[in-house]
Amino acid sequence: MRLWPGGAAQVHKIAAMTSTPALPASPSRRPIQDLPDELISQIAAGEVVERPASVVRELVDNALDAGARQITVRLLAGGVRLISVEDDGCGIPPEELPVALRRHATSKVRDLQELESVTTMGFRGEALAAVASVSQTSILSRTTATDSAWLLDARSGELRRAARAQGTTLEVKELFFSTPARRKFLKTDATELAHCIESVRRHALARPDVGFAIWHEGKLVEQWRALPPDTERSQALARRLADVLGQEFVDQSLPVQRVFHNGAITVYGRAGLPDAARSRADQQYSYVNGRFVRDKVISHAAKAAYEDVLHGHKQPIYALYVEIDPLRVDVNVHPTKIEVRFRDSREVHQAVKHAIEDTLAVPRAQLLAAQADMPPAVADAPGGASGNAPAQAAPQQQLAMPLPAALPPSFAPSATPSATAPLTPTQMQALWAPLREAAPPPAWQVQESGPASSTAAVPATEAAPAEATTPPVAAQSWPLGRAVAQIHGVYVLAENAQGMVIVDMHAAHERIVYERLKAQLGNDQPIASQPLLIPATFAATPQEVAAAEAHSASLHTLGLEIAPFSPKTLAVRAVPAVLAQGDAVELARSVLAELQQHEASTLIARARHEILATMACHGAVRANRRLSLEEMNALLRQMEQTERSDQCNHGRPTWRQLTMPELDALFLRGR
Ligand SMILES: Nc1ncnc2c1ncn2[C@@H]1O[C@H](COP(=O)(O)OP(=O)(O)O)[C@@H](O)[C@H]1O
Ligand SMILES: [Mg+2]
Repeated sequence: MRLWPGGAAQVHKIAAMTSTPALPASPSRRPIQDLPDELISQIAAGEVVERPASVVRELVDNALDAGARQITVRLLAGGVRLISVEDDGCGIPPEELPVALRRHATSKVRDLQELESVTTMGFRGEALAAVASVSQTSILSRTTATDSAWLLDARSGELRRAARAQGTTLEVKELFFSTPARRKFLKTDATELAHCIESVRRHALARPDVGFAIWHEGKLVEQWRALPPDTERSQALARRLADVLGQEFVDQSLPVQRVFHNGAITVYGRAGLPDAARSRADQQYSYVNGRFVRDKVISHAAKAAYEDVLHGHKQPIYALYVEIDPLRVDVNVHPTKIEVRFRDSREVHQAVKHAIEDTLAVPRAQLLAAQADMPPAVADAPGGASGNAPAQAAPQQQLAMPLPAALPPSFAPSATPSATAPLTPTQMQALWAPLREAAPPPAWQVQESGPASSTAAVPATEAAPAEATTPPVAAQSWPLGRAVAQIHGVYVLAENAQGMVIVDMHAAHERIVYERLKAQLGNDQPIASQPLLIPATFAATPQEVAAAEAHSASLHTLGLEIAPFSPKTLAVRAVPAVLAQGDAVELARSVLAELQQHEASTLIARARHEILATMACHGAVRANRRLSLEEMNALLRQMEQTERSDQCNHGRPTWRQLTMPELDALFLRGR
């Protein structure tokens, strides 16, 4: 079974494809031959040897193509004095050793058809020739067909018997010794060493089934052990990623696995949690058919997938592997093979974007619940229901319920807030109405005549003692648990099966409002709008007036109606119903500012999303609002159901889990 692209299995596949009978003792390799001239002209020309790391890359490529299971790289002086790459692959028969060093001689590609569907790392037949021309190179190799190894000195051409087990050792000494000008461009040994290590690291991340070791000046600097080839792919990858990049990378990422177009494209790997994003793009690894690539299509797709959960210039971490029918990708674009060209870049873009988006959309709370492997919630909690029964009565299906496609037309038709006055309990109720919509129908809502009732707005501190007596059954079945208190009007505390949950209520509510707004726009429906009884007017800049006029259609789609009242005044006549309780003027100003910034003609989805995000931020509950326990619980239930609810629209986390072991550790319990 083919577990890894570019593996020995593919070498076998090629051997099976060829009409030339394979060597009896080494069925997996074909003889090295000169490429025909017409093929040479097809191959992307250029220099492949820039620095020691490029030599390392080419030699490790070769070892992998030879089916190696263990590759050892030894370096002296950052690779400038010596690069030796040792493998246990198929080896090269002595009569072919001189051929291997010839330009355009390869065992991997024969004709145009093979060039167009390359499955090996190499295919140009140039690397060894190029390396040998700027260094003192020797090849020591042994196949299973010979009774000893043979050593070829590239400079002298001398070929003699030597000792070695099956496999190949390429030794490259004194790189650029004959071209001092190029040697001058090399950096310090430490820098060159770092590049060499990075080069091996890229290979290692693609091939968990191969062991790698790097020695520098006689010291082992890196070692990654081979995982058994039958290890399940995502597990093997997670282990290798942890070995190479650190356990943190795995802990802070989610597995990606999606198949597209009936298997023509597979995207797998790991996508970092938005939380793990960094200021530098130094942990972004992309592969196409086992080859490390820098590809704009993939990186742009990844960026787009994170757009909605990462703001600013934060760089996500990821290791993504695109497996694609070799006929759909051209690897013969760049001499160093670091770039590829997709026959249909759109399909790859969409595949990568969707694969990551799907991974990131699932609220982590749901994963928590799955991990905890809890029995379904019990509707009738033992121990008797108190007056706070709603906290126990969330059937499990409720959590899996899809988001409502659209909001009801209006939530709070009654109140017309003044922008300056503090919100009354009634107004706050109205603001929270959207939250209650999809929350489990709690008893208190049934008792109430409508959202205007103020009983739910009892400050949390007063309700808390009674709530604390609720049996913990519901808390265990709800991923984010049962709200217990509000801290300084900013955080909600909850108890769940794992321990304690802390929620940034503004951040969380912001995401919920945003996702609801998006769900509405997704249907190309204008956002439900609510006319203001008294239009809110404000002194506007000429630019604002112009933007309001130019974008009236877009504004309408967004549920806003902003019209000139006088040459220097704008009037907000309608706002999105979901934001009816906010400051209409402030909302209008920020949306107009966004509209001016984005290209007027095309209000693309992205700009829309950003505008929606602005609106959501504006509409989300602010800090220092007292919430009742019911409202806190409603918020938690909504978070469990809302996609991407682990981050607010600015990419900040909305909640944190403190597990019991973590709490115990804080208090040195059990030590
Ligand atoms: N480590 C190795 N083990 C077995 N064969 C090798 C090894 N390195 C190079 N070769 C052989 O030498 C040929 C030339 O290598 P190279 O110049 O890198 O070109 P390419 O890899 O593009 O074919 C390869 O096609 C392969 O047959
Ligand atoms: Mg090669």
